Amino acid sequence: MATFRQWGWWAAIAAAGAATQAAAQAPGSLERGRYLMQTVVACGNCHFQRGPQGQPLPEKGLSGGMLFDEPPFKAYASNITPDPETGIGKWTDAQLAKAIREGIRPDGRVIGPPMPIEFYRHLADDDLAALIAYLRAQPPVKNAVPASTYTMPLPPNYGPPVKSVTAPPRSDKVKYGRYLADIAHCMECHTPRNDKGMLETARRGAGGQVFKGPWGASVSRNLTPHPSGLKGWSDAEIAKAIRTGMDRQGKPYRPPMGFGFYEGISEPDMAALVAYLRSLKPLPFAGAQK
Ligand code: HEC
Ligand code: HEC
Repeated sequence: MATFRQWGWWAAIAAAGAATQAAAQAPGSLERGRYLMQTVVACGNCHFQRGPQGQPLPEKGLSGGMLFDEPPFKAYASNITPDPETGIGKWTDAQLAKAIREGIRPDGRVIGPPMPIEFYRHLADDDLAALIAYLRAQPPVKNAVPASTYTMPLPPNYGPPVKSVTAPPRSDKVKYGRYLADIAHCMECHTPRNDKGMLETARRGAGGQVFKGPWGASVSRNLTPHPSGLKGWSDAEIAKAIRTGMDRQGKPYRPPMGFGFYEGISEPDMAALVAYLRSLKPLPFAGAQK
């Protein structure tokens, strides 16, 4: 079976380079946007253009086109480069902010799944501004992406308008870690879903979602501090798994988790993420879902 490494997905992404840690912390800055985008937020895991075998093509930027063929929908990730015709070049900053954090486009149409809007609603104002600064600074790439089709009704919105969000202080490791996990949408994949496809928030982190692709089928793991989860793992082992995409025996994990991005997560941010995982309610593994 092809592994993540054999797909060569990492090298290409890691080569994009990371900002210096100090610059990466400046609120609202382009460097902060670069850090978030190339590590923890990883919009490129969905919005990079893909090659014939599904491998990301970072050199083509966030020009979209990846197909999520997951009935009841067939969604194509949009081109979010500043190309005025096929991308978001004509959108204002406020329009981009509303699209990313609330899932509403300038023409009022709702952005459908799998874009994890419920989690992006937690994006702090300055981090959202940093992401937008990054998007604006990218070269425009022409790539017309087909329209998505949804055979289920989309919600009219994902909640009331988001007025203003401030991230918790970094000194509160558990809270800041939760913030990072939200904007990385870890729990979108690591929480089981009910038969309506909704996340079972009472079983946050218990894993069990199945992801099919050219790699076969991967099953999200239990991230809670339960014996069937991360209880027996050291902090360093957890960090290593997230950064290198390899388990404790050195066996590579399969997609779609964006390991190639997470390699660049800073030490303090990783410590906060791990502290948050340790704070989850211990739950038995949800079991691979149908
Ligand atoms: C899990 C995959 C996924 C992730 C992660 C993701 N997106 Fe998306 N995004 C999509 C899909 C699929 C669509 C198209 C949905 C549709 O057609 O309604 C989309 C649509 C969009 C749109 C609408 C563009 C248009 O022309 O209509 C914007 C803007 C956007 N994404 C920005 C972002 C940003 C910024 C991030 C990171 C903070 C991000 N997305 C992360 C999958 C994703
Ligand atoms: C797009 C879905 C997705 C996202 C987002 C995601 N993961 Fe994962 N994760 C998975 C899958 C699937 C696996 C198992 C892969 C395999 O078995 O080959 C996994 C494996 C792991 C493992 C290995 C655990 C073990 O028991 O071996 C850890 C730790 C982990 N993820 C943490 C995280 C964290 C922290 C985040 C957010 C920063 C995150 N994941 C985001 C899908 C995802």
